[in-house]
Amino acid sequence: MTLKKSLLIGCGSYLPQRIVTNDELSKTVDTSDEWITKRTGIKQRHIAADGETTSDLAVNAGRDALTRAGMTVDDIDLIIVATTTPDDTFPSTATKVQAKLGMEHGAAFDIQAVCAGFIYALATADNFIKAGQARAVLVIGAETFSRILDWEDRTTCVLFGDGAGAIVLRAAEGDETESNFGVMSTHLHSDGRHRDVLYVDGGPSSSQTVGHVRMAGQEVFRHAVSKLSGVIDEALSANGLDSSTVDWLIPHQANSRIIKSMAQKMKLPEEKVVSTIDRHANTSAASVPLALTEAVIDGRVKNGDLVLFEAIGGGLVWGAGLVRIGAP
Ligand code: UT7
Repeated sequence: MTLKKSLLIGCGSYLPQRIVTNDELSKTVDTSDEWITKRTGIKQRHIAADGETTSDLAVNAGRDALTRAGMTVDDIDLIIVATTTPDDTFPSTATKVQAKLGMEHGAAFDIQAVCAGFIYALATADNFIKAGQARAVLVIGAETFSRILDWEDRTTCVLFGDGAGAIVLRAAEGDETESNFGVMSTHLHSDGRHRDVLYVDGGPSSSQTVGHVRMAGQEVFRHAVSKLSGVIDEALSANGLDSSTVDWLIPHQANSRIIKSMAQKMKLPEEKVVSTIDRHANTSAASVPLALTEAVIDGRVKNGDLVLFEAIGGGLVWGAGLVRIGAP
């Protein structure tokens, strides 16, 4: 059986209206714009309005991606939402998104891989298409991380923001199958032994609470640099590619120092790295598709460009994906 191939034919995003700057935050938390900027590169973050839920953000990003792909929900047969901040413990946020989009067919489910959620969802969608089990998939990364932050813990609350990003993957048809467009490969990893460096201190089965984010920042930083560097190498060598062939690095936006270190490792000039961390902060599963969409809208990422996605999150979980954007 010849495996099918998936093309990334559209992307979209949504950010809540309210912007909270570092200066505003420093009025309620013992921190400063200087510390946050120097250590992370973050200047501001978007925060969801009262009553605005992850599924609301996801629906807006999903609609935007469908429009840019020239599709409607009728063309989609699977919705995957990567999120760590679902509206409810159940049903899945993906089924809420499905209903809000007016889609009455197909399937929908959530993926939980925290900040690597988008890479995990991309890999899952690609494999559904490759196996012929889905024709077109709406992949959304959406988070209201502000709801699981301890706003008195300055070591975590300054780092995150809310938002959503989405892509549409569809099966290549006819001659497209022979082209070099589409998802070239995805690479997923996890190591549950490192659970305690980044976790939420609550959950339905453990404490019957939602919990708050806890992080040993320096340790996560160390793991991020080594594990992301490893998975970038893995993605390039799996495709027999040199890093100079990559048009854009679109990394998870957790810390500008980690992003710079990955760019240096790949010997990529800063202009080839898409960074949104200054304005979005860390939006977890939404950060990569948010960055992709920004770069597509402003004309940096074009049809046919080779893009490398990477991300790491609590678990630990991490991964990368190489994609030639668009369709021939
Ligand atoms: O998305 C999942 C992946 N996440 C990541 O990749 C995050 C990885 N880690 C990081 O990005 C960084 O470790 C942080 C940004 C979280 C922290 O930066 P750091 O350079 O590792 O700082 P640190 O934790 O070593 O803290 C340095 C100092 C400490 O004070 P002392 O002990 O030196 O007196 C902290 O208490 O900075 C203090 N500090 C703060 N000061 C002002 C910690 N948070 C703050 C704050 N404002 N918000």
